Amino acid sequence: MAADIRLNAFAMNCVGHQSPGLWRHPRDRSSDYNRLPYWIDLARTLERGRFDGLFLADVLGVYDVYGGSPDAALRHAIQVPVNDPMMLVSAMAAVTEHLGFGVTCTLSYEPPYPFARRMSTLDHLTQGRIGWNIVTGYLDSAARGMGKERQTAHDDRYDIADEYMEVVYRLWEGSWEDDAVKRDRASGIFADPAKVHRVIHQGEAYQLDAIHLCEPSPQRTPVLYQAGTSPRGRVFAGRHAECVFMSGPSAKIIAPRVAAIRQAAVEAGRAGSDIVIFSIATVVLGETDAEAEAKFADYRRYIDHEASLTLMSGWTGVDFSTYELDQQVRHVLNDAGRSAMDNVTRADPDRVWTVRE
Ligand SMILES: Cc1cc2nc3c(=O)[nH]c(=O)nc-3n(C[C@H](O)[C@H](O)[C@H](O)COP(=O)(O)O)c2cc1C
Repeated sequence: MAADIRLNAFAMNCVGHQSPGLWRHPRDRSSDYNRLPYWIDLARTLERGRFDGLFLADVLGVYDVYGGSPDAALRHAIQVPVNDPMMLVSAMAAVTEHLGFGVTCTLSYEPPYPFARRMSTLDHLTQGRIGWNIVTGYLDSAARGMGKERQTAHDDRYDIADEYMEVVYRLWEGSWEDDAVKRDRASGIFADPAKVHRVIHQGEAYQLDAIHLCEPSPQRTPVLYQAGTSPRGRVFAGRHAECVFMSGPSAKIIAPRVAAIRQAAVEAGRAGSDIVIFSIATVVLGETDAEAEAKFADYRRYIDHEASLTLMSGWTGVDFSTYELDQQVRHVLNDAGRSAMDNVTRADPDRVWTVRE
């Protein structure tokens, strides 16, 4: 059987996405992130290379766990400054025909009603090429920016996310019937009010009594991505995700997560194979192995420990500035993301990680 491998590129609307320090490389162009030609070139390159999609990461909040301040993040451009990813999509859609766009948006700080409209708008403008990476955030700094003391507890965020999904599904799928829009100049009827329905939701986290503001878009519900693999994250993925994005240091760690996600889908009444898994990989190309190895060695010279640990501290909620570089990383349970912490601690008990690694 031929394997069906799909390729997503992975980027973020900022300078230092996941290669801390590399922005200093003479050939690095990521500091042009705030100019449209950078994104238009990328979209054209990906389409020419037959990529399935461009996945855009995003995070609300600043990486201020390391050293208890945003200083290191600012010095090293660790996902700050960071612009809004959704705004990039129209420009890239205009110069491509097939490329999909998976945009990360946190649901924790925006109610479903305006968010559903923004997604529908992009589904219209891309003619059905939009996807949504459903995230709930992992930074307390985002919560403080939104007037809260700290972020909602880890598993509670996923409970709220389930309710959020219930509301956006109803807005996207249930408000406008397929033939609600007439565009009939002769009768003077643009849309038939009898075919546009109110969505009434009285839930714990959300209350709503409204019609969806957009007419049906090509997909209605965008392609749904998810990227959290904690036990509660898997249950959420099993219910909602069409694609799951995974990151782990070895096949030994990734394989059981894939199996668990597929099992979660089965438990939610779906087929395990309904979920497409994307695993992260950094590919360095060259005409020969030696050329690729040399390039990789060159890139590695730009790694910056403080910059890397600033990123890792944000993901895990652990302040690595208080560790020695050769100290072993031990597992900590908190309200930040859990997969990144598990990757370097309990996911593979045979592999001990030091902070330096
Ligand atoms: C490959 C990958 C990409 C991710 N991209 C984002 C992102 O762009 N924005 C975000 O807030 N979280 C992102 N996450 C974090 C997850 O969505 C999730 O919050 C995190 O893994 C914690 O969830 P968990 O505790 O269920 O594992 C990403 C995770 C992975 C593995």
